[in-house]
Amino acid sequence: MNKTKELFTAASMARQQAYAPYSGFAVGAAVLGSNQKIYAGANVENISYPCGTCAEQAAIAAMVADGCTGISAVLVIADTKEPITPCGACLQRIKEFSGTQTTIHLANLEGIVRSLPFEEFLPLAFNNKEVKK
Ligand code: THU
Repeated sequence: MNKTKELFTAASMARQQAYAPYSGFAVGAAVLGSNQKIYAGANVENISYPCGTCAEQAAIAAMVADGCTGISAVLVIADTKEPITPCGACLQRIKEFSGTQTTIHLANLEGIVRSLPFEEFLPLAFNNKEVKK
């Protein structure tokens, strides 16, 4: 299976495990690390609503916990006609580990609808090198 198909399968399977009893909106994400491994995640909501976490956040955390800090691609999937895009906070999380080659795939249950370079999502992301002294 090619990596993009694998990303779709991993994100779809994770989405099926989403814990979203409050919004009823299940999201799955899968990240292709620079090590060519795939990490999946789902949204995990909480009765204290702000404690909920996004699918992308979970996938990125799994990647980092496995020792990888580079993102080649991200796929996000939800059951919508128009595919969803990562939220603003998740774009910043992706930014931390992405480069000029990072691709974002937007999918619904039928398959990938659009694939775009990450840079199109957040061209002026907060990334000031002077923050790191
Ligand atoms: N959500 C994600 O997991 N990823 C996104 O890119 C957008 C939104 C989740 C958060 C919340 O659990 C639910 O979708 C509805 O906003």
